[in-house]
Amino acid sequence: MTKKMTLTSIKKTKGIRPLVMITAYDALFARLVEPSVDMILVGDSLNMTFAGKDDTISTTIEQMIYHTNAVCMGAKNSFVVCDMPFGTYINKEIALLNAIKVFQETPADCIKIEGGEEKSNIIKHLCDNGIAVCGHIGLLPQAVRSEGGYKVKGKTEDEKLQLIKDAKAVEMAGAFCMVIEGVKSEVASEVAKCVDIPVIGIGAGVDVDGQVLVFSDMLGFYEEFTPKFVKKYLDGANLVKDAIKDYASEVSSREFPKEEHTY
Ligand code: KIV
Repeated sequence: MTKKMTLTSIKKTKGIRPLVMITAYDALFARLVEPSVDMILVGDSLNMTFAGKDDTISTTIEQMIYHTNAVCMGAKNSFVVCDMPFGTYINKEIALLNAIKVFQETPADCIKIEGGEEKSNIIKHLCDNGIAVCGHIGLLPQAVRSEGGYKVKGKTEDEKLQLIKDAKAVEMAGAFCMVIEGVKSEVASEVAKCVDIPVIGIGAGVDVDGQVLVFSDMLGFYEEFTPKFVKKYLDGANLVKDAIKDYASEVSSREFPKEEHTY
C-alpha cells in the first residue's frame, strides 16, 4: 500500500523530486491512478470532460462535493485536492463558508483556488481558519470569458514580474503548494525558484516542482481538443470505440454471450 502524502511530505519534495498529480472525477479512475501518483485533483475541469460543458464556469459546489466524495471512496490512501468553482470564493466570508462546506461534506485534504496576489487575502483567511489551500496562478481557466480565451502567460516582462509577485503572495498567504498553468517554461522555472513551496506545472515546462494533467486528456479520451502541452499516453477514445464496436457486432451475431458468460 502506498503511503498517503501529507502537507509536510508534499512541501518536503521541493528540490528533491517532482510531484506527480493527475485529475480524477470518480471512484473507478481514482482507484486506477492511486498507486502511481502523489496527489489527485478533483478539478472543476470535470464540468467539461465529465459534464460536457464548454468551460468550467458553471461548475457548482454540489458537483465538486459529489465528485470529491466519489474520488475519496476510490482512493482512500491518496491526498485529494478539491477545486473551488467559479463564484464560490469572491470574498473572504463566502470563500470560508464554501470551503468549510467542502471540508465538512467530503474528506478532501485541501481546496484549490485560482488567482495570485489579488486572492492572497482570501487564501490567508482560509488558512487562518483551518483550510489547507493549494494556489493556482498563470492561465486561470475560470477567467476564460473575462479574458476572451485561454491566454498563455509570461510572454512579457510585466507578466513575468506579476507571476513572481503572485507566487510570493500565494506562499506568504499560507498556501502549501500551487499549480502554475499555461506559462512560458523559462518564466515558470523562475517563478518556481522564487518560492519555497512546490509549484506544480501544467503547460509550464519541465523545470518546475511537479506536473499535473487532466486524466481524460493524457489518456486520449477527450477528442474535442488536445492542448499542445498534453502528451497522450493512451489512445483511449479509439480503444473504447473499437471495444464497443466489437461488443455490438458480437451481440448482433449472437457470438456473445458464450457458455462461460451464462448461468
Ligand atoms: O480543473 C482542473 O483540472 C485544473 C487543472 C487544469 C490544473 O485546475
